[in-house]
Amino acid sequence: MIIRSELRNNKKLNQQFLKKSWFQVCKSFFKVMFKKSSKISSLVLVGIFSVFVTTASAIDLDEATRTVVKDGSGKTVVLTPEQIKRGKRLFNATCGACHVGGITKTNPNVGLDPEALSLATPRRDNIDGLIDYLKNPTSYDGLESIAEVHPSLKSADIYPRMRSITDDDLYAIAGHILLQPKIVTEKWGGGKIYY
Ligand code: HEC
Repeated sequence: MIIRSELRNNKKLNQQFLKKSWFQVCKSFFKVMFKKSSKISSLVLVGIFSVFVTTASAIDLDEATRTVVKDGSGKTVVLTPEQIKRGKRLFNATCGACHVGGITKTNPNVGLDPEALSLATPRRDNIDGLIDYLKNPTSYDGLESIAEVHPSLKSADIYPRMRSITDDDLYAIAGHILLQPKIVTEKWGGGKIYY
């Protein structure tokens, strides 16, 4: 018992030491930078700052960017920042394993990029088309249901992750798929070159 608790203490001390030394390394780095040249150090700070700003702006997208096509007639809707956040989280958790970055790992011909979605039958490059697909997915030519081999509400019994998905969730996920190409451009669905 004693040995065990000593080991634990050691581990704690080690972690504290590591944390502290990292902090010190950073501190001395900045000290040296400031002394050497305040220009370089301000550049570094601006760099760090701009990384934070670009991350934050993913949520503060303007209305034009948040506007996506709702249905086959071309009607549009504006996604709310909440829907965008939710769509991203749900997509990554539920679909990311096969569709990371908008590609389809097991079938690269049927990606989630706007072109592939628009050429499907019926077209899937709009919210309603994507929601229909996630309720009852069909082959690319629309002729047969592939619910048994693709996650959907219809096949929630074989895909447990789909069990807790609501209609609002499907809307948010569809929104995420349509929004991504506007944010990361052709990288979305662009395949292994980017991811
Ligand atoms: C187990 C892997 C897997 C998971 C998980 C998965 N998909 Fe798919 N997805 C595929 C495959 C494979 C295809 C191609 C199906 C075909 O042959 O038509 C596809 C096709 C699609 C298409 C049609 C693309 C097009 O260009 O027509 C959409 C839309 C889609 N998936 C959305 C999703 C969403 C949203 C999720 C999460 C809820 C999801 N998928 C989860 C494997 C998966």
